[in-house]
Amino acid sequence: MKGTPTMLNAPLVATSVVDGRWCSPYLPEQTLGGYLAHVEASQPPLRAALDFEREGTDSALAALVATTTEFDTDATGRGDSYRRAQRDASVRWSGARQLLHLCGATDAEPGTVILDVLGGDGTLARALRQQDPASAARLSLLTGDISGEMVAQALAHGLPAVRQAADFLFLRDGSVDATLLAYGTHHISPAERPTAVREALRVTRPQGRVVLHDFDEASPMARFFGRVVHHHSTAGHDYPHFSREELHELFAAAGSPVEVLDVYDPLVVRADTEAEARQRMCDYVADMYGISTLFDRLGPADSWRLLEECFDHEDYLARLPHRPEGMSSPVVHRADGRFVAEVPRVAIVAVADKAV
Ligand SMILES: C[S@@+](CC[C@H](N)C(=O)[O-])C[C@H]1O[C@@H](n2cnc3c(N)ncnc32)[C@H](O)[C@@H]1O
Repeated sequence: MKGTPTMLNAPLVATSVVDGRWCSPYLPEQTLGGYLAHVEASQPPLRAALDFEREGTDSALAALVATTTEFDTDATGRGDSYRRAQRDASVRWSGARQLLHLCGATDAEPGTVILDVLGGDGTLARALRQQDPASAARLSLLTGDISGEMVAQALAHGLPAVRQAADFLFLRDGSVDATLLAYGTHHISPAERPTAVREALRVTRPQGRVVLHDFDEASPMARFFGRVVHHHSTAGHDYPHFSREELHELFAAAGSPVEVLDVYDPLVVRADTEAEARQRMCDYVADMYGISTLFDRLGPADSWRLLEECFDHEDYLARLPHRPEGMSSPVVHRADGRFVAEVPRVAIVAVADKAV
């Protein structure tokens, strides 16, 4: 049968069930069988971790392909413009580097496997490849995502990627060294969060690590989503963020206590003039959050003023027990002969070490 993968770990089940599963749609233009054949040929560490035979897989696959998300395309929300912003994968590198370090990526043994559950089109994997090629060469950073468009784009970038929902991962128990949920964890509904945390712990090996990043519901970032993005983007942004207490409770309920850190996680762009640096930052924010219409109407000066107003972190930082190093409001400064526009953000990050 065309598109049928060589069946590693083939199950002893009726052929018709297996055939049906492999022939089912999975990515926008690919069946599950076609996807597995591609991964088997080009991404052996991912293929070794994949598991499409666990109980519940068929209904999880059916739910997945029936899901449309705002990250698919601009017609469904802000997918195309989000990916346009992420063509420059360096903008969030400062925070991403710290998260990848917490996952063990920067001093990884060769063969280390890390899962990025909300990986989009592979922003973090592409940033690691560009910014720290030595670490990237030692490990496999698997990009997961619920959106078929995102996963198709990650695969087109030559990255190991899997379409799956955070609450039903198509990976074997203990098959990865670390699991990261970051940059969009608030898109997982509160009802699904306990399962997503249990799934992250399930696929992580004993003594491996789970890192969960989001923004405090009391943070300037949450305020920006609520006051600006929700009202001015096509899809809105009605997603509850996290609190420190919720992070502790989620992991405690899954049997794994956490430490919660405050991580400086700014947006940073570079340009040859101050005006260009501000404009590039506004363009990035407009594309990433789907608010181009608002920023076009405001123009450059008022768009920048809005960022200054929303991302003023003085009060928030003053309330933190351990204030992380970084800017407290948007600035343009000089570095290495260039103009650097920096918009501060401070994330809350739960770090859990899985027990033996
Ligand atoms: C803000 S984007 C971040 C993408 C990428 N990590 C980045 O930083 O550019 C959030 C991503 O999470 C994905 N997502 C949302 N809910 C999800 C879920 N329940 N399971 C898996 N992925 C999900 C979306 O499709 C989207 O690509």
